[in-house]
Amino acid sequence: MRTHPLGTTGLQVSALGLGCMGMSALYGEADRAESVATVHAALEAGVTLLDTGDFYGMGHNEMLIGEALRTAPAASRERALTSVKFGALRDPDGGWSGFDGRPAAVRNFAAYSLQRLGVDHIDVYRIARVDPAVPIEETVGAIAELVEKGHVRHIGLSEAGADTVRRAAATAPIADLQIEYSLISRGIEAEILPAVRELGIGVTAYGVLSRGLISGHFTADRQLAANDFRAMSPRFQGENLRHNLDLVEALRKIAEQKGVTVAQIAIAWVLAQRASHGADIVPLIGARRRDRLAEALGALDVTLDAADLRAIEEAVPADAAAGERYPAQQMAHLDSER
Ligand SMILES: NC(=O)c1ccc[n+]([C@@H]2O[C@H](COP(=O)([O-])OP(=O)(O)OC[C@H]3O[C@@H](n4cnc5c(N)ncnc54)[C@H](OP(=O)(O)O)[C@@H]3O)[C@@H](O)[C@H]2O)c1
Repeated sequence: MRTHPLGTTGLQVSALGLGCMGMSALYGEADRAESVATVHAALEAGVTLLDTGDFYGMGHNEMLIGEALRTAPAASRERALTSVKFGALRDPDGGWSGFDGRPAAVRNFAAYSLQRLGVDHIDVYRIARVDPAVPIEETVGAIAELVEKGHVRHIGLSEAGADTVRRAAATAPIADLQIEYSLISRGIEAEILPAVRELGIGVTAYGVLSRGLISGHFTADRQLAANDFRAMSPRFQGENLRHNLDLVEALRKIAEQKGVTVAQIAIAWVLAQRASHGADIVPLIGARRRDRLAEALGALDVTLDAADLRAIEEAVPADAAAGERYPAQQMAHLDSER
């Protein structure tokens, strides 16, 4: 798989990244051995970027990635880049109690992540949600100090709005903004995407399959564990879910005509939104099984011409989804939605 610059801070990554969250949290039970095998298969296929958060399973996800890196062939391990989010505060029962972006907290989170991952540096480090009580300059300034000391290579942002991105970029060089972007979550197009492009900041797009909703594999009768994010997500509830799955069926017709899968069309659509001069948007694939990974990687071979893109956007117009992308309480934490 080819690698491309992401942003203008010297970060070079594969066209797709592997998001590891679902291997530890938020989408119900995952199989550990299969998760590790999926990370190995992704690295073997040329995926270089592994995305995690220290709060995914309260350290579980970082330890899982640490194990996968330790047991991967040396050549794969050397190619791997870690992208780590911090700042979310948890409790032993899995509860959430806000965010902490104070400089002392940043240093503390990083110290623990380095140990759990078993690495001597983190490639991209970012706060998961902007802490409203701490100016972004202080949080980013603390990461910049970690860069100076060699503990971190690049600074990222997550779910930050355009004003915050500008303030962060005025503080230190920012490699990428991680933010939700898919056929049914197009909020970044108006203001945020133009701002990051102007500033030379890349995008790592998550929720490209809207957490499985537009993967073509999700069905209305799927039973979700109480702690599955989708059990609380407005888009997966009742009438909203039925409406959204109708959109998927419209997409399926296009996928079938092209001889590809729905998930591949959805990922290829995001890939097609990259600037013509390079790969400024890298979709994070949330696969936690090797078969899902293989399907997602197949999107790299899907070419969408102008007629395909028109047909896709007619089937799933911007703003066609029913329901917000997060429950109201979590929407309130999104600087990007202010
Ligand atoms: N910065 C942030 O705020 C933020 C928020 C969320 C996620 N993220 C990052 O972004 C990554 C991706 O996000 P996401 O997991 O929500 O992405 P996603 O790709 O929209 O959803 C992943 C889910 O889609 C389903 N799926 C079905 N077919 C698939 C296929 N071929 N390939 C991959 N998944 C398939 C899987 O669910 P089943 O396994 O249940 O079928 C999987 O758990 C996360 O792992 C995390 O690293 C960041």
